[in-house]
Amino acid sequence: MNKTIAVTKGDGIGVEIVDEALKVLDRVAEKFGHKFEYKYALIGGAAYDKYHTPLPEETLEICKSSDAVFLGAVGGDKWDSVEPDLRPEKGLLALRKGLGLYANLRPATIYEALKSASPLKDYIVEKGVDILVVRELIGGIYFGDRKTYVEDGVRTAYDVEKYNENEIKRISKMAFDSAMKRRKKVTLVDKANVLDSSKLWREVVKEMSKDYPEVELDFMYVDNASMQLIKNPSQFDVILTNNIFGDILSDESSQITGSIGMLPSASISEIGIHMYEPIHGSAPDIAGQDIANPLATILSAAMMLRYSFDLEEEAVAIENAVEKVLEEGIRTIDIKEPKGEYVKCSEIGTAVAERI
Ligand code: NAI
Ligand code: MG
Repeated sequence: MNKTIAVTKGDGIGVEIVDEALKVLDRVAEKFGHKFEYKYALIGGAAYDKYHTPLPEETLEICKSSDAVFLGAVGGDKWDSVEPDLRPEKGLLALRKGLGLYANLRPATIYEALKSASPLKDYIVEKGVDILVVRELIGGIYFGDRKTYVEDGVRTAYDVEKYNENEIKRISKMAFDSAMKRRKKVTLVDKANVLDSSKLWREVVKEMSKDYPEVELDFMYVDNASMQLIKNPSQFDVILTNNIFGDILSDESSQITGSIGMLPSASISEIGIHMYEPIHGSAPDIAGQDIANPLATILSAAMMLRYSFDLEEEAVAIENAVEKVLEEGIRTIDIKEPKGEYVKCSEIGTAVAERI
């Protein structure tokens, strides 16, 4: 199979972790007889430095003319003083919008080898954790009206959370369809006791659930959900939620699994060009030290093979190799459980590739 992949490494550890994932993809191509052509493009701070914009037109064009997009991470202190609309993160938001990436799928599972790395008590971890956060990605407060101004001599700002029923329907369909392939349970996380937008989510999701009689649907307020994720994470199968709650809850669920460096994601597009990236950011605090955990990015590559190219066997080969690496005690220092030696970021891609 011949595929073109737009590769946007971004900033900070983005560069380091993507390089490791490409080693793994190269090995998959070699072993299974595929050809992956990488088209490199700048985004975020790296693009700002060169073109004075975090999403150059050329980058969007390269992404739109590829079969899939593979991204590292954007942002960093270096661009703190850049005007708000040109910040690196705006480049990522614009790319998500530009590709119509409405659904962000973020699986969180505990690996057998990392059970003791989870900060949760053994009896909770033993019950197993296998959650899929389905986060709406191009609507809500991250894209709503916003303004900073002075009102009656007082500094004031607002951001608007707004959804229409069509936006809620398409993400809900993704959640129900995903649940049908899993344990057939959807939990809608919202704040319907306070927010009108959340009340609309409940209405629309209830209506849609009629098309999925086999799927159990329940509702949870986001404050309770953030507590339940720690107290009893095994109760969750698919968590369906809006952009901002999904952002926060998926970072929280990453900790259950041992490290934010373990969680991959797939962003599903309206136009068929999906994007894959780890859930974490550019980690400026550890960038350039060759200590970042590239497994979230490597696992995102597996998701790309599965969702964009329908290469299930190849995806599983990557996932099995990752599991093997962890079982052998090979890990980066973010996983605070020194069973084996800590190795460098740049050794992990090779270790995974060798086990495919
Ligand atoms: P972050 O996710 O970059 O880092 C949070 C903490 O987790 C840091 O202590 C970091 O060292 C650690 N960490 C993250 N990924 C890791 C990995 N692979 N291996 C080991 N440790 C890892 O979030 P933070 O610090 O809030 O943001 C840093 C920058 O990244 C900001 O500019 C932010 O806007 C941006 N950001 C970008 C995202 C993206 O590109 N998708 C998502 C989140 C933040
Ligand atoms: Mg986040």
